[in-house]
Amino acid sequence: MPISAATNELGHLTIGGCDTVKLAEEFGTPLWVIDEATVRQSARACLEGLSSYGDARALYAGKAFLCLTMCRLAQQMGMGLDVVSEGELYTAAKAYFPPELTYMHGNNKSQSEIDAGLAYGLNIVIDGMSEAQMVIARAAALGKRASALVRVTPGVEPDTHEHIKTGQHASKFGVPLEGVPEIVRFLTEHHNEIDLRGLHAHIGSQGQELEPFLQIIDILGDLVLDLCQEQNFVLRQLDVGGGLGITYTEEDKPAPIYTWASEIAQRVKRVFTARSLDLPQLLVEPGRSIIGTAGVTLYRAGHSKSVANNIQYLALDGGMADNPRPITYQAKYTACVANRMKDSFSENRLTLVGRYCESGDIIIREAHVRASTGDLVGIFATGAYSYSQASNYNRTPRPACVLVADGKAEIIIERENNDDLIRHDRIPKRLS
Ligand code: LLP
Repeated sequence: MPISAATNELGHLTIGGCDTVKLAEEFGTPLWVIDEATVRQSARACLEGLSSYGDARALYAGKAFLCLTMCRLAQQMGMGLDVVSEGELYTAAKAYFPPELTYMHGNNKSQSEIDAGLAYGLNIVIDGMSEAQMVIARAAALGKRASALVRVTPGVEPDTHEHIKTGQHASKFGVPLEGVPEIVRFLTEHHNEIDLRGLHAHIGSQGQELEPFLQIIDILGDLVLDLCQEQNFVLRQLDVGGGLGITYTEEDKPAPIYTWASEIAQRVKRVFTARSLDLPQLLVEPGRSIIGTAGVTLYRAGHSKSVANNIQYLALDGGMADNPRPITYQAKYTACVANRMKDSFSENRLTLVGRYCESGDIIIREAHVRASTGDLVGIFATGAYSYSQASNYNRTPRPACVLVADGKAEIIIERENNDDLIRHDRIPKRLS
């Protein structure tokens, strides 16, 4: 839940001091509501966790949720930014996000993305040898020097869904440990085009146990020692990625973000000191753990149906197009009845389904809520990877997103309309 969530005298869910029933009336449904206080608190907790380290920085992973306002919030909170496409970079640039605090990821950066990154003057996280060659060639052609990190595949898996693991052996991301000396040597030789600052690793997302996040630091420490002894390589930046999970249901027990950040900071200090290596600048890249619990989706409940095996369906006015996580990762969520917070728990289970033309479009399979047609259903913890993965499936416009704080709600992403859906359609002359 967002930290500001409460129930008012009318029994309505409030977020950031705003009555969600009024938000739904004013802005329509489905509606993404983002609680500014939660974003700020998560960012602060992360930065406080890192504070004992000295030279450390948190980069907000934009892929979790990015828009102009989110760039502003991240910057105000003293975070850098991780972008993975020209579109995310364009958003950052339009929000005047400082280039030196922007890092570009991706396992298949195009020439045009690399050129845009070089022109912006951001940091490029190089994913492999062929990309290294392209970055060098483009930097030479454009007369630029790229600040770079090399992404390492550490061979460590977090406790999460297969689709969102990235650090395991044979991952499509990064350079396998045994290939790192070669690429570091190659990049160092091209110091006119590349300023190789350090190494990066990211093992996956929605990890709950701390150990895998710490284990990669031991592995990277050994790797850096080898690089130092064999090539005199001096590591200036170490980016250990993001991936900390959040609580979607009572089954989830992720470490608090403060603990995650401070354990990482302590482990890096210990590992580098034990190997008599200078401490690098430490970078972390949390996305979900900054924005996830800040978001609540409000849906209007529509038709209901009772079918065989005692299944009760209640259909909501959104679903897999505004939140593809349940159908993609079998992700679980927690619901509430936002217009009747008291007395909305039910022993009976309700299947909350979406409005899209697929049987798999189920938002919550067994929700313990007493909801019916016309109710306002809130789904918690939808701040991360909902808007950013949303689609126009079934030609539905994407919902609006409001930022709430101190009793005020402001649109940060407008609701799309039907004209937006046909904006790029063209009819060949012979058919018109
Ligand atoms: N750094 C890198 C290089 C990443 O690839 C990611 C996420 C992050 C940081 C941020 O991870 P976070 O702290 O948000 O877990 N669509 C999936 C999640 C994909 C994550 C992709 N990479 C989902 O909805 O669960």
